Amino acid sequence: MGENLGLVAQSAWSGVDPWLAVRSLVHWRRVSQAHKEEGEPVVSDAEKEGEGEHDNRFSGDEWGLHPSDMNPCFIRPQYAVRGDIYLRAVELKDQGREITYCNIGNPQSVGQAPNKFYRNVLALCLCPHLLDHPNVTSLYPEYVVTNARRILSNIPGGLGAYSDSRGVPYLCQQVAKYVERRDGPDAGPADYSRIFMTDGASVGVKMILSALVSGPETGILCPVPQYPLYSATLSILDGTLVPYYLNEESGWSLSIDDLQTILDAYRKKGVQCKALCFINPGNPTGQCLSMANLQALIRFAARERLVLLADEVYQENVYGDVPFTSARKALLSLPRDVASECQLVSFHTISKGTIGECGLRGGYFELTNVSEPGLAAIYKMASINLCPNLPAQVVTSLYLNPPQAGEPGHDEWAAERNAIFDALKRKAAFVSTLFNAMDGVSCQPVAGAMYAFPRIHLPKKAIKEAEARGKAPDGVYCMELLEATGIATVPGSGFGQKKGTFHCRTTILPSEEKMREMMQQWGEFHKDFMKKYAD
Ligand SMILES: Cc1ncc(COP(=O)(O)O)c(C=O)c1O
Repeated sequence: MGENLGLVAQSAWSGVDPWLAVRSLVHWRRVSQAHKEEGEPVVSDAEKEGEGEHDNRFSGDEWGLHPSDMNPCFIRPQYAVRGDIYLRAVELKDQGREITYCNIGNPQSVGQAPNKFYRNVLALCLCPHLLDHPNVTSLYPEYVVTNARRILSNIPGGLGAYSDSRGVPYLCQQVAKYVERRDGPDAGPADYSRIFMTDGASVGVKMILSALVSGPETGILCPVPQYPLYSATLSILDGTLVPYYLNEESGWSLSIDDLQTILDAYRKKGVQCKALCFINPGNPTGQCLSMANLQALIRFAARERLVLLADEVYQENVYGDVPFTSARKALLSLPRDVASECQLVSFHTISKGTIGECGLRGGYFELTNVSEPGLAAIYKMASINLCPNLPAQVVTSLYLNPPQAGEPGHDEWAAERNAIFDALKRKAAFVSTLFNAMDGVSCQPVAGAMYAFPRIHLPKKAIKEAEARGKAPDGVYCMELLEATGIATVPGSGFGQKKGTFHCRTTILPSEEKMREMMQQWGEFHKDFMKKYAD
């Protein structure tokens, strides 16, 4: 596998990184302290004493749930999105610095308001007694009340009861209705019994990977750069990440020839590749796959008997000329003999798009062409968790089926949704333009998702110095950027990248005003950095 991926999660890494572990602990203590200062429940002196005793009693016991005695696969993964740059940002924030958090795609944490339609209906579903209140329609618009009644009448136990392990059947039907609308009549009906609601896409991805991976001899083809959920989960499962590199120069495109080469090379080494994962639109790379790209990918997967894992969490976040095409639609556009040979799992979420409800933890995955026994095994696995969280199931169904044009509430919903989308689109355009205007930086267009991933052409002196300090060169760049400007980002090494190239990922989520100010600061920092390390 690519050497630089060792920085992500796959390296033989024995023991926990002590520096990161201590920093995490210190961070956690600080957060707890800050909560107390903000008026969290007061802890009595006696309780505090007890707390201290607990700490002392257990410190130094190096067994059981101590990293030295834990499953090494549990200790090994790294997740740069909340790695050392983030931890340092929190420290600086504690010291009173203003921090612009651009390290994570968490829209509401940087000021995006929740859409009132979803939240109002959810509020009434959570408090059904309000529906009987004589003044309910003076607090909530009539269409909100109607939607809440419709949903509740289809959830027999309400939101406080476990549902079926796949989700509430009616809400799964609502997801199926969306899938059919999105993919058009040619793709045919969607089967709601093959839709599994999840507590966010991450949970679904982990479940499906755990269904496939049985040890280092199982390989999963993953894009590089990639969102580190995949590398981290494979690390936990002790599977093998088989990296296929996206081609930056041609807009982070993927090549079927490269896929074939890497697949053959790993098969020769005895790795059985079982699945091919792709992220469309891409994170961190922002590219969108065309119908033709997807069809080629599906033919390849069918021929090589690879399950296709389509991470489509950014399907609403498309800003360029290439529209979003779902893997399901592409698959069902192919002749029956090809289409039926390709097993597909598609993932979606309520964390991204224009809804950005990361904290509610909702999403789903849909299985296409998976056999009945396979479906039953996944259902059994889902049932061990009892059920996905009910409020998020409701919001998932609402997000995918907001009021349509002409229906009550559409204009209010659309005004909020479009304001967010239009701003993202403008930011996507000006951020990449401003990066390209910096000396020694090149940035592919941000065609989708919510990140820019500029390449930083670092001077040799900066690279040497970073290596001498045992740090990733782009990690040093991001750390110096943070120290100088308060902008928190993630180094490209956290996602994997071609050897000898260096990148940095920033979200485009802060307000437009903030983003413009931030890009100005970044440009000044960059000039100084390049001067400081000039060869
Ligand atoms: C590509 C990709 N997949 C999955 C996820 C996980 O999303 P969720 O919040 O639904 O677990 C993310 C989150 O950033 C992501 O970028």
